[in-house]
Amino acid sequence: MAFPTETVYGLGANALNAEAVRSVYEAKGRPSDNPMIVHISKIEDMDELVAGGYIRISPYAKMAAKKLWPGPLTMVFVKNPSVPDVTTGGLVTVAIRMPMNETARNLIAESGVPVAAPSANISGRPSPTTAEDVLEDMDGRIDAVIMGDQCDVGIESTVVDMTGDEPVILRPGIITKEWLEAALGCPVSYDKSLLVNMNDEEEFKPRSPGMKYTHYSPKAKVRLIAGDDETFSRKVMELGIEAKREGLRPAILEYGNDANKAAHKLFADLRELDRQGYDIILIRAIDTKGAGFGVMNRMLKSAGYDIVK
Ligand code: TXA
Ligand code: MG
Repeated sequence: MAFPTETVYGLGANALNAEAVRSVYEAKGRPSDNPMIVHISKIEDMDELVAGGYIRISPYAKMAAKKLWPGPLTMVFVKNPSVPDVTTGGLVTVAIRMPMNETARNLIAESGVPVAAPSANISGRPSPTTAEDVLEDMDGRIDAVIMGDQCDVGIESTVVDMTGDEPVILRPGIITKEWLEAALGCPVSYDKSLLVNMNDEEEFKPRSPGMKYTHYSPKAKVRLIAGDDETFSRKVMELGIEAKREGLRPAILEYGNDANKAAHKLFADLRELDRQGYDIILIRAIDTKGAGFGVMNRMLKSAGYDIVK
């Protein structure tokens, strides 16, 4: 069943039931080594999921759970053997999140089990931020979707590895590095894969298994344009003329420097432009300060790292 969360819509199954989890991989067409996030409705639910229970997690993780949950933060821990390997894509760790959205938390509480839920899109497509977007991909493939509002955040949760001495961000999101550092009072780093040249396949060996697949791709070709106003206008004009010469319809997406607004709208806009039949989407690269880092991460992936400077 698909349901709204504050980040994107999720497609849920009992995280402790291997058969149920397998059916989610199948409905999404998702590679089985890409682990799922397990959603809970209260902190005590961690006990049965992490090795040694809640009491054994690091002080930083406890602080993050108290200060930032419920919310768009996912934490990775060493898993309890009772969590099936399919749920974690064969990893010895498990990713856990307590969503803010009340419908989501009620659903988890009512179901009485932790809920494994990836984003409710066909693998590789932009994550769905409205119930209509879920149906566009999943109608006929899933039993039901709980119709909620458009997701507030619009990009997926920040994923943080809590298994080491200090937190490491594996997937950036609206809860930024600076926000985590202020809340936890410790240094927080980015996984190397987020910083290296991602076109260099040798160098790019992601630790968050989902990071290596094609992502967030609409049907249209996406190109990112970086640079100042003048460069942007010139490039848009050049690429626009080029597209039209080839008989293709270009669209432009520009969000200024409002990273929260960009996060809220990016995936919805990509899907909407597809519905309107555009062939090429030119996106203006966003400043990577604060939440812009997570938005730029999604923009880069949806463009297949095709960035025009
Ligand atoms: O906001 C969200 O996180 C949404 C909503 C539905 O909660 N869910 C979501 O799930 O984005 P999904 O499956 O689309 O992305 C999960 C990400 C993937 O990049 C996956 O590789 C990573 O979390 N992940 C899951 N378990 C992990 C683990 N044990 N270690 C490292 N990364 C993990
Ligand atoms: Mg996803």
